[in-house]
Amino acid sequence: MPAVVIVGAQWGDEGKGKVTDLVGDRVEYVVRYQGGNNAGHTVVIGDQSYALHLLPSGVLSPDVVPVIGGGVVLDPAVLFEEIEGLQERGVSCDRLLISANAHLIMPHHRALDKVSERYLGKARIGTTGRGIGPTYGDKIARMGIRVQDLFDPGILRKKLELALREKNQLLTKVYNRRGIAIDAVVEEYVTYGERLRPYVADTTLVLNQALEDDKVVLLEGAQGTLLDVDHGTYPFVTSSSPTAGGACTGSGIGPTRITKVIGILKAYTTRVGSGPFPTELLDEWGEFLRKTGGEYGVTTGRNRRCGWFDAVIGRYATRVNGMTDYFLTKLDVLSGLEKVPVCVAYEVDGERTDDLPMTQTDFHHATPVYEYLDGWWENISEARTFADLPHNAQAYVRRLEEMVGAPVSAIGVGPGRDQTMEIRPLI
Ligand code: IMP
Repeated sequence: MPAVVIVGAQWGDEGKGKVTDLVGDRVEYVVRYQGGNNAGHTVVIGDQSYALHLLPSGVLSPDVVPVIGGGVVLDPAVLFEEIEGLQERGVSCDRLLISANAHLIMPHHRALDKVSERYLGKARIGTTGRGIGPTYGDKIARMGIRVQDLFDPGILRKKLELALREKNQLLTKVYNRRGIAIDAVVEEYVTYGERLRPYVADTTLVLNQALEDDKVVLLEGAQGTLLDVDHGTYPFVTSSSPTAGGACTGSGIGPTRITKVIGILKAYTTRVGSGPFPTELLDEWGEFLRKTGGEYGVTTGRNRRCGWFDAVIGRYATRVNGMTDYFLTKLDVLSGLEKVPVCVAYEVDGERTDDLPMTQTDFHHATPVYEYLDGWWENISEARTFADLPHNAQAYVRRLEEMVGAPVSAIGVGPGRDQTMEIRPLI
C-alpha cells in the first residue's frame, strides 16, 4: 500500500494541516519527517481551532498513529507543552511514536539561534528563534544529541560536555553571553527522557511493517519547497529538507514506496523571514491579502509577506518534488477582485525566463511578468464541488494547473474542515 507525501509548494504556510486533516480518516499513520517547532499548522474542527507546532496533525484523528520521524529536531519542553494542551482539550496523544534517532534541541541551540541572528544584523535570516538551524548544524557536524542518548545519562553527559566545551566558548567569547551550566541541563533532559520513553520506538521498522500490512502512511512535510536547504532560496531557508526526497531520509521509507506526492499550493504567495520574493506586494494589495487571508504566523505571530500567485515557483515545485497532485488552498481569499494578477515568468536584467533562475543573484533581480485573469465577485466559501465555483474561479484554477504542470485535485475555500472540495480522490 502507498506512502503519500504532502509537501508545501511555496515558502510554507500553504495550509498543510487542513489537508492532512481532510484525508486523516483514510490513513493509518501520519509522519512528520523534518523540521521542528518552527512549523505551525492550524486545524479547525467545528468551532475549535488547534495550533500544532511539533506534533503531526494526525494526532487529532482518533484512529491515526502520529509519528515523529528521525529527520525531525525535537524540543522536549515544547512537545510536552503541546501534548498537555491537547490532553486538556480531550485529545489523546497516547498513540504518538517518536524516533529514537530524532535530534534534540538543547538550550545552547536556542541561545545560539538568537545571538547569531542578532550578530548577522541586516543579513539575518529571520529564523523562528527556536534553535532549529544550530541543532541541524550539530547533527551534520556529528556532535548532536539524540532522543536515544537520554536513556544513557553517562553518554548524555559525555556528549553534552563535548558540545558545551565549544558552545560555551562561542557564547561567552564571541557573543558575550553567559555560558550554560551542564548539571542543570543533564538533570532536565534525563527527566525528559523518562517522560519520552513510552513514546519512543524504532519508527522505521514500524512504518515499513505498516506498509507491508497494506496500511496507508502519510508523510507530512513542514515548511515548503523554497525553504528547503538544498532546493530553496539559500541561505534564506530552513535547515532541513521539506521537499519530497526528505520524506524518505526523514522517515526511513524507501523511495519506491512513495506513490503520490501532493503539493499544497496557496492561491497567492506568502513568506515569513528574509529573502527574495519576486511577487511581494508592499502596497494596499499586500495588506488586502494579509487581512483577508489572516496571514499572521502561527508560531511567531509575525506578519507574513504577501504577493500574487507565482507560477514560476509552482513549476519549480512540481519539478523538484515530482508532484502528482495539487491541493489549492485559500481560493476564497481572492473573491472580489476585478482582475487577478498571476506571475507567469520573470524578467531578469531585461531577459524573460520561464524557470527559476539558476543563481540566487539572478533570483534577487527577478521581477514578475504578470498575466491578468478575470476575477469573480461571489463568496465561494460555501462551494463544495468544482461546478459550484463561478466560471472565472474555475478558469483561474485551470490556468494555474496548466502553468504548474500538475492537476489540482482538491481546493480549499475556507478554514473549516468541511470548506473543501475534492475534485478527484487525493488518496
Ligand atoms: P528556522 O527554520 O527557524 O531556522 O527559520 C529559517 C527560515 O524559515 C525563516 O525565514 C523562517 O521564517 C522560515 N520558516 C521556518 N518555519 C516556517 C514555517 O513553518 N512557515 C514559514 N516559514 C518558516
